Amino acid sequence: MSKKIVITGGAGFIGSHVVRLFVNKYPNYQIFNLDCLTYAGNLENLKDIQKAPNYTFLKADINDAQQINKLFEQHAFDAVIHLAAESHVDRSITDPNAFIQTNVMGTANLLNAAKSLWKNDYTNKRFYHVSTDEVYGSLGETGFFLETTPYDPQSPYSASKAASDHLVRAYGNTYHMPFVITNCSNNYGQNQFPEKLIPLFIHNIKNNKSLPVYGDGKYTRDWLYVVDHARAIDTVFHSGKDGETYNIGGFNEWQNIELIHLLCTQMDQKLGRAAGTSAQLITYIKDRPGHDRRYAIDATKIKNELGWEPSVTFEEGLSLTIDWYLENESWLNNVTSGQYQSYYEQQYSK
Ligand code: NAD
Ligand code: DAU
Repeated sequence: MSKKIVITGGAGFIGSHVVRLFVNKYPNYQIFNLDCLTYAGNLENLKDIQKAPNYTFLKADINDAQQINKLFEQHAFDAVIHLAAESHVDRSITDPNAFIQTNVMGTANLLNAAKSLWKNDYTNKRFYHVSTDEVYGSLGETGFFLETTPYDPQSPYSASKAASDHLVRAYGNTYHMPFVITNCSNNYGQNQFPEKLIPLFIHNIKNNKSLPVYGDGKYTRDWLYVVDHARAIDTVFHSGKDGETYNIGGFNEWQNIELIHLLCTQMDQKLGRAAGTSAQLITYIKDRPGHDRRYAIDATKIKNELGWEPSVTFEEGLSLTIDWYLENESWLNNVTSGQYQSYYEQQYSK
């Protein structure tokens, strides 16, 4: 069946993998990538599909309600897959308002545009909201986040994502808008902006710069290869039930310091350095304020109900990721110039 799908944030890290998957897998769908190209959005991520006949880029800001309403009327989208957001926790600590604006108000603008376009006729319509496991707060040493875990966001980023999740559910409840929400754990892979742990450390190891580990390094995250997240979004978009939430995770918990040692070992091998060379760059620094101790997703529901599970092991995914960054030096150099330099100095010079 033919569909017009608008994917917001499609020029970003996860969004670009979702756009690529949908453009290539569903030639009968019209895929619209709606993105305003913040520092994190980069059309170079999609250069392999930019000329595909079923792909259109729309440069637009979800904070501009008028522009968004106009685009929805003009293109009459059947579905929204909403990824556009401010996504980096450290930035939310220094500039919370940008997160409240884009993640909360931007989501409200999209919901309003979809509501006025669809005018209560929701046949074959769907609003898919992509969210994070951080809305559930922080775990102790045991236990997992379930879809029923109460929300307890701890950073301005996670609070703004929690607010957007609540809005989506409220539009479902009040206006009967058909929606699905997924809450995913930490992603890694090709095209991730090097402010996030894994690409930042690959970049620093390559350039013999110190590896800034926050606090005691024993914070735990559950890592998922981005291509597997895109596959999960495809599965939930097509087979998930209206009004449901699905947790997505890698069944793959790592303490930061253990992950960093694995990364150093793989990097030493790939760069032909003596074992232990890169680990010497590890430097413990001041902790992130309000740092969540542990995230771990129980992804049983999506596995049992929809048959999705990760397709690559962490060691394989990490190796593919390192290879990509080493082979795509120009991508990294492009995104690490300009505004990124001042961000890096501000963030790590304290
Ligand atoms: P990203 O920062 O790499 O990309 C965000 C994209 O959104 C960029 O292309 C940016 O230009 C665009 N954008 C930002 N503000 C916009 C605006 N006002 N209007 C239009 N476009 C705008 O983010 P990401 O890591 O790919 O995350 C994508 C989504 O997935 C986010 O909603 C995030 O909360 C969620 N998520 C991320 C992770 C992760 O580990 N990265 C895990 C779970 C959920
Ligand atoms: O859990 C999903 C979330 O994962 C997403 O919703 C967010 O968009 C995404 O940014 C990510 O958030 P984290 O804060 O977990 O990711 P980050 O890569 O920033 O940090 C991972 C861990 O590494 C965290 O415990 C902080 C630590 N860290 C990070 C950086 C950038 C360091 O020790 N040093 C660093 O320089």
